[in-house]
Amino acid sequence: MSNGRERFSKLGFILAAVGSAVGLGNVWRFSYVAGDSGGAAFLLIYILCIFLVGLPVLLAEFSIGRKGQQDVVGSFNAISPQKPWAIGGFLGVASAFLILSFYGVIAGWVVYFLYSYVTGATGNVGTGEYGDFFGAFIGGAAGPVFWQVLFMIFVVAIVFSGVKKGIELSNKIFMPLLAVILIFLAGYSLTLDGAGEGLTFLFTPDWSAFAQPGVYAAAIGQAFFTLSLGMGAMITYASYLPKDTNLPSAAGTVVTFDTLFAIVAGLVIFPAVFTFGLEPGAGPGLIFITLPEVFNQMGGTGTLFGILFFFLVAIAALSSAISLLEVSVAYAMRKFNWTRRFSAVVVGAVVTLFGIPSALSQGGPLSEFTIFGLPFLDAVDTLTDKYFLPLGGLVIALFVGWGWNKVDALKETGLTNSALGTAWIWFLRIVAPLGIAVILLLNILG
Ligand code: PHE
Repeated sequence: MSNGRERFSKLGFILAAVGSAVGLGNVWRFSYVAGDSGGAAFLLIYILCIFLVGLPVLLAEFSIGRKGQQDVVGSFNAISPQKPWAIGGFLGVASAFLILSFYGVIAGWVVYFLYSYVTGATGNVGTGEYGDFFGAFIGGAAGPVFWQVLFMIFVVAIVFSGVKKGIELSNKIFMPLLAVILIFLAGYSLTLDGAGEGLTFLFTPDWSAFAQPGVYAAAIGQAFFTLSLGMGAMITYASYLPKDTNLPSAAGTVVTFDTLFAIVAGLVIFPAVFTFGLEPGAGPGLIFITLPEVFNQMGGTGTLFGILFFFLVAIAALSSAISLLEVSVAYAMRKFNWTRRFSAVVVGAVVTLFGIPSALSQGGPLSEFTIFGLPFLDAVDTLTDKYFLPLGGLVIALFVGWGWNKVDALKETGLTNSALGTAWIWFLRIVAPLGIAVILLLNILG
């Protein structure tokens, strides 16, 4: 077992996995997808997807990583040599690389907003003008690239410092901080006049939404993205685990915290949106245009709220981006026999460069350059969220359900001879693959 690989402590692993899961997906993406897809009905389907598909696949990733003791490609090969399953690993490295390329861009926007609140620059933006403020910023060239690169430097620095001194340590600081800020913000938001309306939007389903297939596809896509599934981040993290960690309870903890975090983020955002009579279905601009309008109307407290909110989102994004970079860094370290430091710098630089066209595509110099009619950032986002992640998840579920010897898989998770273990295997054999396949088909046809 001691193959020279760095190790997380038990708590360090849980915090790092929660840190990977909790990110832009829980705040930026969850709020606008839920807002677009009707609130409570989406939330219900999303929670079902998390438990029926997300949790079993998450546990599958944990057992593959801990058993394989290597990066995502190496872990598949270690368990099942000379078999085509490693394709799932390559897909994972590609997805992690692509997602990080645009994730860094959006995180850069968050850091720019944080900076604008701290320096008071937002004080000069009048009511109704945040759309222009945001549009002018992302439509620039130097601005979005500068903030993207700055964010990526932090990501590289942490991965460069190693599993224990970089990833584990940063998450031990970030996660408790996130929890405190989030609870504080939710407490405040719930005292606003629109709190009741916000709660109704989030918790009282509009039943007609259940008849729309798009809501199911959105929910499963969100479940994969928010739990960092289908691309090997959780496989890679679990490869740094000691044997004695209880995997099912770790998976349960990650799912619980991630879901709570998204719901509480909704409790911060929607009461504020309704208090000021704004639109919950505003799309990806929800946290960059709608929320700042809200902060603006709150006066002095609004600035404090803005600083805390964007600081929260920035560190949540950082801890997720670290896990995305670690997937490719761990792969390159083994594949090319590179040191961690060299790998972090080279891979980090290449991902950042690849992200630049995304940074320039939102109204900037590259906005005319489209792929399948989509700006570069949106094309990479759609390709990964709609196709690569579900496909990766499908391979992982089928691998543990059918490819890997059942006795060994159950032994690795500590679920031998238990009803839970049997249920898990059958979820991976039938329920998760069917669910994912239907959604993939819907995405391909739609
Ligand atoms: N789960 C992260 C979020 O919610 C994003 C992510 C996706 C991170 C895939 C790692 C892998 O923001």
